[in-house]
Amino acid sequence: MSVAAGHSQLPFARPNVLDLAPLYEVLRREAPVTPVTTPAGDPAWLVTRFEEVGDLLGDARLGRSHPEPERASRISTAAVSEGPSGNYATEQADHARMRRLLTPAFAARRMRTLTDHIQHLVDGYLDQLAVEHTSTPDGVVDLHAGLAFPLPVAVICRLLGVPASDDAYFSALSQRMADLAIGDDARRAREEFHAYMAGLAESKRGRPGEDVISDLVRAQSADPGYDYDEMIRHCVGLLFAGHETTVNRIGLGVLFLLTRPGPWDALTGDPDGRVNATVEEIMRLGAPGDLGLLRYAHTDVEIADVTIRRGDAVILSVNSANRDPSVYSDAETFRPDRPERTHLGFGRGAHFCIGASLARTELRVVFATLAGRLPGLRLAKELDEFEARTTLTGGVTELPVTW
Ligand code: HEM
Repeated sequence: MSVAAGHSQLPFARPNVLDLAPLYEVLRREAPVTPVTTPAGDPAWLVTRFEEVGDLLGDARLGRSHPEPERASRISTAAVSEGPSGNYATEQADHARMRRLLTPAFAARRMRTLTDHIQHLVDGYLDQLAVEHTSTPDGVVDLHAGLAFPLPVAVICRLLGVPASDDAYFSALSQRMADLAIGDDARRAREEFHAYMAGLAESKRGRPGEDVISDLVRAQSADPGYDYDEMIRHCVGLLFAGHETTVNRIGLGVLFLLTRPGPWDALTGDPDGRVNATVEEIMRLGAPGDLGLLRYAHTDVEIADVTIRRGDAVILSVNSANRDPSVYSDAETFRPDRPERTHLGFGRGAHFCIGASLARTELRVVFATLAGRLPGLRLAKELDEFEARTTLTGGVTELPVTW
């Protein structure tokens, strides 16, 4: 397909849940910053090469807010990624405060203390799946429903101080919010989520605990500049950011490993020794959503022979950047033993993922435990039979396996 033929329409059709559309390869080579039409029908720039995606992630001339929000390009109709967010005049200060407040709660040291809890949860889910395995006639169980989905929900609820009894309610809301296909319902879900979170925050005000929501409630009472609605948005954002992404990296990681015998055998041979590199390779290649990170230019920006005008929408394709052959040898191949150690799977720069340590801890425990306990694990269905989820962050909806 020729780029010169016109603006490409996002999302690009992909061959299966693990591979990207072949068009990305053409774009990286011929038009690394190219005009596209978003799923909402608006114009945007799509950036596909590692160098430019990395540079723009670190470029303070781009932001999430828009100088004239009502004129901004919309990306999708999903509630969580429809367009600009935040206040153009105060974005940087607001963001700095958010990082200052949230970063300590997710420090690597604190995450390490969560490892035992995560291990305990994973062991419990696998015990339960083992019972199901012996009691179903074909021995097939769903690793999505039995592990990939409930684990990140339980972990983030524990960290934030959401009562375990609300797990199911909250995960249903979160799924509705992430659904790209149902704009109105996704918006309603977001409102419901805010109301739920406001109620929870109020209950913590009276009886604060050792959890992130209590920390934020305390910070909000102490700082009149920290707006109440902003605090609620932070809580919702954390619950959401901390769960969808991790769910689908577990799912895609299982698919990569079970459709490529070499890396799986290597991992089962030495789970503790191999798990870190395996998780980083899952983070590099596990590309569930097909869009990218959204920014708006706050001033004109020249890059790769293109002028991005103030106010233009920019979609930074981390997925494509992470498969750039000028950075990775054999870039499309899942190879945990590769020499290149970096990727943009958690972003870069000012917005680098606050939950990266938590996500890494969860993924490491999951894959080391699966490889240690179930070395004979295999998929109960062919790769091309897996349907990608129609959510913002993608992934799979079921993961039938046996052993
Ligand atoms: C494997 C799982 C995860 C992946 C792939 C992931 C990916 C990312 C990426 C790419 C960004 C950058 C967004 C941007 O630049 O616009 C980001 C930001 C963020 N992530 Fe994660 N994330 C994961 C897990 C988590 C977890 C467990 C949490 C914790 C609750 C979390 C909280 C956040 C927050 C709060 C931000 C916003 C940071 C900011 O704007 O400064 N993430 N994540």
